Amino acid sequence: MLVLGIESSCDETGVALVQCEGQAIPTLLSHALYSQIEMHQAFGGVVPELASRDHIRRVLPLTQEVLSTGDRLLAQVDVVAYTRGPGLAGALLVGAGVACALGAALDKPVLGVHHLEGHLLSPFLSVDPPEFPFVALLVSGGHTQLMRVDGVGRYALLGETIDDAAGEAFDKSAKLMGLGYPGGPALARMAEQGDPAAYKLPRPLLNSGNLDFSFAGLKTAVLVQAQRMVAADLAMAAGEEPPKSQPNGGSTAGFDALPMVQRCNLAASTQAAIVDVLVKKSMTALNETGLQRLVVAGGVGANRALREQLNLNCAKQGVRVHYPELHLCTDNGAMIAMAAAMRLQSGLQDAVMAYAFDVKPRWPLDGL
Ligand code: KG4
Ligand code: ZN
Repeated sequence: MLVLGIESSCDETGVALVQCEGQAIPTLLSHALYSQIEMHQAFGGVVPELASRDHIRRVLPLTQEVLSTGDRLLAQVDVVAYTRGPGLAGALLVGAGVACALGAALDKPVLGVHHLEGHLLSPFLSVDPPEFPFVALLVSGGHTQLMRVDGVGRYALLGETIDDAAGEAFDKSAKLMGLGYPGGPALARMAEQGDPAAYKLPRPLLNSGNLDFSFAGLKTAVLVQAQRMVAADLAMAAGEEPPKSQPNGGSTAGFDALPMVQRCNLAASTQAAIVDVLVKKSMTALNETGLQRLVVAGGVGANRALREQLNLNCAKQGVRVHYPELHLCTDNGAMIAMAAAMRLQSGLQDAVMAYAFDVKPRWPLDGL
């Protein structure tokens, strides 16, 4: 069975072909991705309407590309899968509309996939795929969740963020450090040169006794620290004492003119605070469930410091940890084709020959 997958939930158009035989783990034949990051950079974040329009431009050329590199014809596609949600409504509608149009034209069934299920199952595309059951740490730009995963479609939420997601904490901290959008990878790069213990930042809900997260307060602490650093720098330049309260009128303007070592230290301290919380809660989830496997998925799963700390802690506890391939951590079509293939294999869901579609901009994964 040949599955064509289309991802268009946010600022990346992804298309992929996955081959699925019997109960064997499906294999990736080809995938292609177009990232809109450059287009949105000028606005400091994703502009939904521009995103939708760009998905329209990219999706068919990318489909042709994966057919050509996968050495397949459109007529050989058995199922067309698309991201049904969660995500930006207009962006989702593009993928859903194109998938249903292709399905109708080819007289083949279609299947709407949950974006987070795509992330969750993406490690099955790696050379070292996990086995069920496992604890999943889902860390993307919009979600931070710990789940118990007993099989395809068998997801129980253990804990999640009550405000910002981990990716958001990276992105918002990066923005106030003048690193632009999306700041996560840029902040991570700066953090490599810094001292993670340089600034004391809060580890929200670290000892809350449950598996929930909160990152909004951390972002505020980073903001206050950045303001202090700018105010101290300005005062020093003017030969004055640094102000004790209300530093710099609430602005971080000038942060990017601070000495590199200071900026890298704040980046490293921010990253360390986020990583500490993610690692501690993941280890608690493993202890509480008694499971011996951890799967990490979503964009923040590409973070090197997070991987290092998880590897270290899991090795200590004799737990196996699995990640998607680095280039499949962030949004892509391969994970959507893969999730569709695995749902079909598990008999949980059939692809349908009905081409009326809806999308679900908000869609809890444990409601699947
Ligand atoms: O999963 P994803 O591509 O999109 C969503 O479904 O949200 O995740 C994107 C998020 C962004 O917040 C981005 O800054 C973050 O993942 N990210 C990283 C890294 N690479 C991507 N955060 C920290 N370190 C990285 N290396
Ligand atoms: Zn995503």
